[in-house]
Amino acid sequence: MVKVTVLGAAGGIGQPLSLLLKINPAIKQLSLFDVVNVPGVGADLSHICSDSQTTTHLPSSREDKTALAEALKGSNLVVIPAGVPRKPGMTRDDLFNINASIVRDLAQGIAENAPDAFVLIISNPVNSTVPIVAETLKKNGVYNPKKLFGVTTLDIVRANTFISQLYPDSTTPSNFNINVIGGHSGETIVPLYSIGNSKKYYNDLSEEKQKELIHRVQFGGDEVVQAKNGAGSATLSMAYAGYKLADSILKAISTSEEVVECTFLNLDSSIKGASEAKKLVNNLDFFSLPVKLGKNGIEEVKYEILNDISDDEKKLLAVAIDQLEKNIEKGVGFIKN
Ligand code: NAD
Ligand code: LMR
Repeated sequence: MVKVTVLGAAGGIGQPLSLLLKINPAIKQLSLFDVVNVPGVGADLSHICSDSQTTTHLPSSREDKTALAEALKGSNLVVIPAGVPRKPGMTRDDLFNINASIVRDLAQGIAENAPDAFVLIISNPVNSTVPIVAETLKKNGVYNPKKLFGVTTLDIVRANTFISQLYPDSTTPSNFNINVIGGHSGETIVPLYSIGNSKKYYNDLSEEKQKELIHRVQFGGDEVVQAKNGAGSATLSMAYAGYKLADSILKAISTSEEVVECTFLNLDSSIKGASEAKKLVNNLDFFSLPVKLGKNGIEEVKYEILNDISDDEKKLLAVAIDQLEKNIEKGVGFIKN
């Protein structure tokens, strides 16, 4: 029996993500937690005739910890899209002051009630919220780096879509599976168009078009924030992306299929390939790279890709590493200090 819990299920991402999870046949219990509106979302979803059972959990007050505990108990996988989104003119880091404590408190709930669950972090700034969750789980003595995932899948989704839009007559987005490494904000996002089947299309672009494409992937979130004009950031494309990673993990748990996804992970030495990766990214503790998934989580980091990147991508990587170092330190410091 697979139980999946969404923390922040009544939000812009939480609702469509919960809808997608509701129709996944591998999931038998879908547990929805939010601090507002979640009974309505759950009642609505519960009419869908898929085989999973839906439960909702709404705290009765700020002090009520029972609802979160009930939501989490027995969970195999927990997705966190709780927190505030950006408005035009803000960076993801501007969300730190509000979202850091939301994510820390939810991670504390996971440590106490679902310490073995896979944990997928969507809440921004991902480059800092993932270290916050890692440190909180460590503090509670239940940390397993193989089961912690910063969700950067939307960057891959965008990278595939945006290159295909430049070749509408000869490609579709599903022709591509671009590796996007680094982190999840602005220049920390490094799409590797020089690797795989995108190489020939990328190399055919003028230098100016190449720069525009990289910039569009790095700042794709801004396009949505501006278009929504104060009403939030990407929700539907994010729900698709978050679902894609969750579904891949569920597939890796239940089949012997080879499943590889990019994710922002802790380069902990217990993970095969992580120490090698760490040496290639200036000793950063967290970084997004393709990983092989298995029954127990991240089985292997595909670090070799870092040896194959172009000179231009090396320059992008250097900028990303510099910024990531500060973002990671900020998250770790929030719990340690
Ligand atoms: P939203 O405001 O629509 O929804 C957030 C939900 O979180 C709300 O329902 C709110 O009640 C709930 N919430 C707040 N505090 C909570 C708590 N303590 N416990 C449980 N739920 C709580 O926002 P959204 O558009 O869904 O975005 C959510 C987050 O996801 C933002 O931080 C946004 O920046 C981030 N995001 C990340 C990515 C990514 O690629 N990783 C993409 C898009 C958005
Ligand atoms: C995105 O990439 O769309 C999200 O991180 C939301 C944002 O703030 O841009």
